[in-house]
Amino acid sequence: MRLVALLRNLAVVGMSTLAAGKAAPAEPFRIGLVMPMTGQFSAIARQMEAGARLFISQNGDSVAGRRVELIVKDDGGNPEVSRRISQELVVRDKVDVLAGYGLTPLAMAAAPVATQAKTPMLVLNAATSSVTEASPFIVRTSMTLPQVTLGIAEWAPKNKIKKVVTLVTDYAPGIDAERTFKERFVARGGEIVGSVRVPLHGPDFAPFLQRVTDAAPDAVFVFVPAPTAPVLMKQFSERGLDKSGIRLIGPGDMVDDDSLNAMGDVALGVVTSHHYSAAHDSEANRAFVAAFRKANNGMRPNFIAVGAYDGMRILYAAIKATNGVKSGEALLEQMKGQSFESPRGLLSVDSQTRDVVQDVYIRKVERVNGELYNVEFDALKQVKDPVKAAKAVAR
Ligand code: PHB
Repeated sequence: MRLVALLRNLAVVGMSTLAAGKAAPAEPFRIGLVMPMTGQFSAIARQMEAGARLFISQNGDSVAGRRVELIVKDDGGNPEVSRRISQELVVRDKVDVLAGYGLTPLAMAAAPVATQAKTPMLVLNAATSSVTEASPFIVRTSMTLPQVTLGIAEWAPKNKIKKVVTLVTDYAPGIDAERTFKERFVARGGEIVGSVRVPLHGPDFAPFLQRVTDAAPDAVFVFVPAPTAPVLMKQFSERGLDKSGIRLIGPGDMVDDDSLNAMGDVALGVVTSHHYSAAHDSEANRAFVAAFRKANNGMRPNFIAVGAYDGMRILYAAIKATNGVKSGEALLEQMKGQSFESPRGLLSVDSQTRDVVQDVYIRKVERVNGELYNVEFDALKQVKDPVKAAKAVAR
């Protein structure tokens, strides 16, 4: 009984403080950042967290009167854990936004949490086309595999590549990349002479690369999640494929800026299509790369860092536009349709699909001032996710 009385008194004191005109401090704006910080895919989290933190450090940790609080959680690359910690962030930590999601299965597992809680979910990397359809509360700032694969599927048949073997990681983004490449390449007169799929966890590429060698194609089209790329490139070179005349092509994940420079000569001349290169020639990108390197012991930003950086930008603008009001639905509305110049080039969030629209560049690995870079030499302008664009036409 005494406790009840005490609580009642405290409540009265609280109310009289408000009545006296002292506004209660605004609740912090909480962002739950869910990432694979340990395990095979931890490089994703390293870049993602650094990109998000750079934006916050440059733009202040308070927006529309609310202090921004980043709550970082490790999903260990496990979808069940991704779902559980997303749920805890919503229920226990009362986050205003869920963000992160380094791999497609991690985003898919958490999507129902966002829907149920009506909490916006900013997908900063997971790149299967269908991710944004898993919840109406998802907004994506990275890319889709079909979107970035379009570029290389158009470039290859115009550049003496007629016969191709596809080699992709056997999960949703790999299947998306493989399907897009096959459709577009064959429609332009190319021929697929073999298709291999490698496991997601701890892959040994040797037997798969043997099948590539046996098929003797002009090129091998590769998609592997970025942190797996160094193993693939090492085995490609150990087996002498780089000297065999079989070219490497694909989306840019395999020559990711995070590990490209350590790959060595095997990467030279590899042509890929992607939405971001640290060598992108713009004022905005030079400033971004310099600030990122300075804040992270010289680390080079990759496409995941820029996805996280732009994600925070979209979020800050939405918090401002809603004047800090606590409503997931209002916040989501303000995230849709934003458009600005990102370090990667012009970016917008499609209001209908909540997916990213951006330029897709064709790039070649070259040595620039002693370091390996993806040097952009052509671009497809303002590309939408082609899978969702085709569905919209069919409706
Ligand atoms: C994904 O799982 O969606 C994913 C992961 C790493 C990448 C691209 C896509 O490099």
